[in-house]
Amino acid sequence: MKTATQQGVDKGSVFQSVGFLYFLAVSALSRLYTQDSEFLVAQASLAAGGLIGKRVMDLGAGHGSTTLAIAKRNPSTIVSVDKSVDYIPFLEMLFQSDKDIEGYLEANYGARKVLDDLYDATIAYLEGMRKQFQATRFSRLGGTLQLIEKSAFDLTAKECDEPVDVIIGSHFFHWVVNALKDQYLAEGKSPLEARDCAISESLERIGKLLKPGGILAFSTSKDFVDVDDNPEMDQYLEQYTVTAEPMYVRMHEIKKRLVLKKNPALESKVTIPAPNHLLKNSEIPALFRRSGFNLVHVDLWENLTDYDPIEVAYTALQLHLGGLKDEEISAEDRVEIAKKVRKEMRETMMQGQWENPYMGFGFTYIFQKA
Ligand SMILES: C[S@@+](CC[C@H](N)C(=O)[O-])C[C@H]1O[C@@H](n2cnc3c(N)ncnc32)[C@H](O)[C@@H]1O
Repeated sequence: MKTATQQGVDKGSVFQSVGFLYFLAVSALSRLYTQDSEFLVAQASLAAGGLIGKRVMDLGAGHGSTTLAIAKRNPSTIVSVDKSVDYIPFLEMLFQSDKDIEGYLEANYGARKVLDDLYDATIAYLEGMRKQFQATRFSRLGGTLQLIEKSAFDLTAKECDEPVDVIIGSHFFHWVVNALKDQYLAEGKSPLEARDCAISESLERIGKLLKPGGILAFSTSKDFVDVDDNPEMDQYLEQYTVTAEPMYVRMHEIKKRLVLKKNPALESKVTIPAPNHLLKNSEIPALFRRSGFNLVHVDLWENLTDYDPIEVAYTALQLHLGGLKDEEISAEDRVEIAKKVRKEMRETMMQGQWENPYMGFGFTYIFQKA
C-alpha cells in the first residue's frame, strides 16, 4: 500500500459516505477550503481578465466552496463537476433548492450521530454557504449552475455545451495525477515516467474542456510539492507543515494503535501522514508546456487558522479514518476511535505543546492554454 505517501488517506472512499460528512466538518471547522477557494478564484480571475460573463468550470467541486467563490465573481455559467456520488446531489440540495439541510443530511447519512459534537458547526457553516450563494448577483439574476456527476476524465466538452473559458481545480489536480500515476506504475513504468505520463494524460483530457487561450488554475498543498528551486524555503516549509508537527504525528500514532486493536489486519493501511513529493516546482513550467499550457504564475500562501489545532486535527483524523472501508472498521468504531484519540491527546499533552496554529502551506499555479 502506498497510502503513507498519500497523506495517509485511503483514496477509495475518502470523499464518500462517512468521509463525505467529515470533509464537510473539516471545512466547517477550519475554514481552510473556503480561504483556499477564494484565493485561487481571485488569481484565476486576474489571469483571465475577470470572470464577468464567462463560462467557468469548477473541477473536483466537492462541497462547493470553490463554486461559491466563483459565483461571487459574476460569471454567466458555472459548470461544477465531481465524480463522487455524494457531492453533486448535495450541491443540488444546497445551492439549487431550499430543502432543509439538516433533514437531507439526517435522512441520507444519519449525520447527527456521526458528526456528534461537530454537527452544529457543520450545519451553521452550510447554512452560511447557502445564504451567500443565494445572495450573489449570479444566483439572483439567473446565472446558470450546471452540476455534473462524472469523472473529469470522462467528461466531453459537448456535455457541458461547449469548452469553457476558465477551469479551476482547488485541491483537485493531485488526486487525478496520483490516480493515473498508480495505473502507470502498475504497468511497470518508473516513478518519474509514471508521474510525467500521468500529468500529460490529465492535461490532455482536461485540456479538451478549455478554449484556446483559456486559463487553467489549480492549487495544491505543500505536501505534494518540492520547492527544489529554493531549498532554503523548502526546508522552512517542511519544518512547519502540519505533517512535521510532533503532536500531529503522535495523534496518528495513537490512532494507529487503536485501529489495530480493533482490526490487526489493517497494519499496512493505517498510516502516519507524510509528504507526497509528487511535483517539483522547477519542473512544472516545462512539464506543462509540453502539453500546451504556459505557466502564467506560481504563488505560495500560508493558510493559518486560529482554531484549536487539536480540534482541526481531530476532525481531519476522522476524514482519514473515513478512507477505510466499512467492512474493515465500522462507522461507529471510527467515531469512537477518533474520540479516544482526542481524549488521550488532551490528557497527556504538556502545557505549551501545540500552541502553534494549525499551519498549511499551499501553491497556486495559473496556466494559459496555447
Ligand atoms: C480535496 S477535494 C477538494 C474539493 C473542493 N475543490 C474544495 O476545495 O473544497 C477533491 C475533490 O475531487 C474529486 N475528484 C477526485 N478525482 C476526481 C475526478 N477524476 N473527477 C472529478 N472529481 C474528482 C473528489 O470527489 C473530491 O470532491
